[in-house]
Amino acid sequence: MTAPRYYLWNIGCQMNQADAERLAEALEARGYAATREPSEAALLLLNTCVVRQSAEDKVLGRLASLRPLACDDGSRQLLVMGCFVDQAGDLEIRYPYVDRFFAPSDIQGVLEHVDAWAGRNGDAVPATARPARVNEMVPISYGCDHRCTYCIVTERRGPQRSRPIAEIVAEAEDLVARGAREITLLGQNVDAYGTDWDQGADPAGRPDLADLLDAVHAVPDLWRIRFLTSHPREMTPRIIEAVARLPKVCPSWELPVQSGDDAVLRRMGRGYTVEHFRELAERIRAATPESGLNTDVIVGFCGETDAEFQSTLDLVRELRFDMVHIAAYSVREGTPAAGWPDDVPPDEKERRRALLEETQTEIATEINAALLGETVTILVEGRQRGRWRGRTRTNRLVFFESDDNWRGKLARVRITWTGPWSMIGDVVTEGEPAGEATPEG
Ligand code: SAM
Ligand code: F3S
Repeated sequence: MTAPRYYLWNIGCQMNQADAERLAEALEARGYAATREPSEAALLLLNTCVVRQSAEDKVLGRLASLRPLACDDGSRQLLVMGCFVDQAGDLEIRYPYVDRFFAPSDIQGVLEHVDAWAGRNGDAVPATARPARVNEMVPISYGCDHRCTYCIVTERRGPQRSRPIAEIVAEAEDLVARGAREITLLGQNVDAYGTDWDQGADPAGRPDLADLLDAVHAVPDLWRIRFLTSHPREMTPRIIEAVARLPKVCPSWELPVQSGDDAVLRRMGRGYTVEHFRELAERIRAATPESGLNTDVIVGFCGETDAEFQSTLDLVRELRFDMVHIAAYSVREGTPAAGWPDDVPPDEKERRRALLEETQTEIATEINAALLGETVTILVEGRQRGRWRGRTRTNRLVFFESDDNWRGKLARVRITWTGPWSMIGDVVTEGEPAGEATPEG
């Protein structure tokens, strides 16, 4: 008998990516096999994102295309998880052909539903654990306690819930035992890790991200640790010190600034000033000189003037980020900003987005060009279009050609070509794990 099939469609942030991987693994452990062809599948699963209208449109398109496959008789299940699922809404009425909706990251809920549907009542078919990827993601907290005025995530994902350190470490150990060498610790706001515990207790005695990094650092045979996303308001000197001190922790920072203008930051409800962000960037670069600093920016937020946009452009030029994720502001119903005029016209948003993109491309080109002829150490994740692909500790993407099997190894690569988003090189030798004595670019 052939295995029943599942079709899993995923869109959105790394948290969704991590959830989708977990779900796929759990389904495969129950005897389901993946398919890319929805009509072959007994289980149709959508893991959704609505952070911007463009993502929501893709979800709506996918729902519409799967609708003809929905079965009234329960022989096939169409299940929807993720930020599209508005618990207070009327989704069941609007999409009666969807069998069940699940909150973001409610993998347990999906699995219980699938088990009940399959009549197994939770008795999973024993299966051997799959080998892990070289780089795996582990959620450390769910939800977010911030109320950025443009953001729907906080409403859809609920308040922050941090996972216990022991649970995260156990998961990291299991992944490493299955071959992982790099773990990325994930949360909407990882710098606030632990702040949801014992609200009344002495904050000094409460574990924070620095303690978690220390604990994960102790996992044997783990070579690299990353963490994202940070928040400028909650990044502490203790966290910066831990990253600088712990050799396995990659000095690769994802610190969204969102705007380079104080008035816009106030309207966004971000809770910091440009000067605070600037000082933080300086402190980070002083503590971890060989680091990568990435950020997020929203252009065209409500009321953003030319001068306010110019401040963002100036800050991007001044701080020379390694990467800037740029988004045009998209109104999200249910957020505070949805009640304000969305008064930057679409063409103007696009002009600002393209100008910022062009500026950042020039900067990234220059930063990477400085590495031409240098030798960097990368952790090789796998193959892509006939080449081996890996990343430096600072999260720069490097490709090289070799007939040997480099998967899961550290490679010392001499850079022969650089572009804004990636580099190419020739492999020199194998690298040294953790601590990685040799400097990396
Ligand atoms: N926790 C992070 C932070 O401190 O900013 C970001 C999490 S947010 C879900 C991911 C990114 O989506 C944000 O950095 C922002 O740039 C973008 N984003 C969120 N809401 C948006 C909106 N309404 N329009 C455009 N971009 C948006
Ligand atoms: Fe959204 Fe702001 Fe939290 S961007 S996820 S409310 S930090």
